[in-house]
Amino acid sequence: MKSVQVTGYGDVDKLELVDQAIPEPTETEVLIKVKACAINNTEIWMREGAYGVGSKSGWRPEGVQFPRTPGSDIAGTVVEIGKAVDKSMLEKDVVLFPFTSSGKPGLEHIAEDMSFIGSEYDGGYAEYVAWPADLCFDMPLADYTESSVFTVSGLTAWHMNEQIHVQPGETILVTGANGGVGSLNVQIAAKVFGAKVIAIVGDLALEDEMKKLGASHVLSYKSGDLAEEIIQVNGGPVDSVLDVVGDALFATSLNVLKKGGKFCISGSAGGQKTELDFRTVYLKHITLYGSVLGTRAEFKRLLQAVSEGKINPVIDRTFPLEEARKAQLYFKKAGKLGKVVLLP
Ligand SMILES: NC(=O)c1ccc[n+]([C@@H]2O[C@H](COP(=O)([O-])OP(=O)(O)OC[C@H]3O[C@@H](n4cnc5c(N)ncnc54)[C@H](OP(=O)(O)O)[C@@H]3O)[C@@H](O)[C@H]2O)c1
Repeated sequence: MKSVQVTGYGDVDKLELVDQAIPEPTETEVLIKVKACAINNTEIWMREGAYGVGSKSGWRPEGVQFPRTPGSDIAGTVVEIGKAVDKSMLEKDVVLFPFTSSGKPGLEHIAEDMSFIGSEYDGGYAEYVAWPADLCFDMPLADYTESSVFTVSGLTAWHMNEQIHVQPGETILVTGANGGVGSLNVQIAAKVFGAKVIAIVGDLALEDEMKKLGASHVLSYKSGDLAEEIIQVNGGPVDSVLDVVGDALFATSLNVLKKGGKFCISGSAGGQKTELDFRTVYLKHITLYGSVLGTRAEFKRLLQAVSEGKINPVIDRTFPLEEARKAQLYFKKAGKLGKVVLLP
């Protein structure tokens, strides 16, 4: 089969198109013919060594073993099953829960042995992938590309919304709102949990699209006085912030949060380190939440909401698998709307 492997830490030239053997599923695994694999920042950081290099580089302490096939957001068809797998799995169209873990239900995303597809296991930048049968779920939509875009971004966004218990009528500030996670945070907060969403983007040309996703107000981080604009459109401070930007909008977020507000962060696309005046946190009774991925039960609830049409796929563009280098460079550009997908 054809696959694209990361051969070591570095630039996109470390992504190489290779021919390799089709993986063989173990007793409890299935073999999936990959039809679509959406891109996430995680595989770019893995290649760049942005999680650290050597023994600190991956989701596991021993680090990433190269060569590694990246890609976690996979939709495809089960074409072969292991001996212990129920025959009903054959020919099913599935999406993959993206990690293994010994954590108990509800805690699987914070277990020490959590191991991620595309980092500790070979992933979906390939024509085939082997994965545990019990981590394959029915595809939520009829189309492979549309079904592939929810896995990591959607699970992360769903978990963030549940973590802060978004309530109907609350105001939620969503940063990075045109990105993969943010565009789902907007939809989930507004359309699943009934919140009023203020979406922060760079380019205000995206305003109409963001409103279609459920945003009540769309503001630009390029504004000279974003905090003032947020307070003004909301008629006061906001209840919570769902953040993927980190440093660039941290001060603004703390500034516009109400007393007793919640700040939930799962990414730092706009800067990984920041300055924090602790007095703001305690004098405003702010709760800080760190967030990575989510649980299997949350994944099921997400897929259910997708299949019911409450949340829609937002796809910026697709690339053939052979153009993985181009696709990863494109992913890093500002102003995308939603996900970038590779098609083997
Ligand atoms: N913890 C988890 O489980 C998890 C899961 C998925 C992703 N993440 C992380 O979450 C972050 C976003 O991921 P994504 O897939 O949504 O990426 P993405 O699709 O590239 O979106 C990034 C978003 O951040 C915005 N942004 C970037 N720099 C900014 C700045 N200086 N100021 C304000 N906004 C800025 C972008 O706006 P422009 O388009 O205007 O640049 C865009 O809206 C990444 O750091 C990723 O690693 C974490």
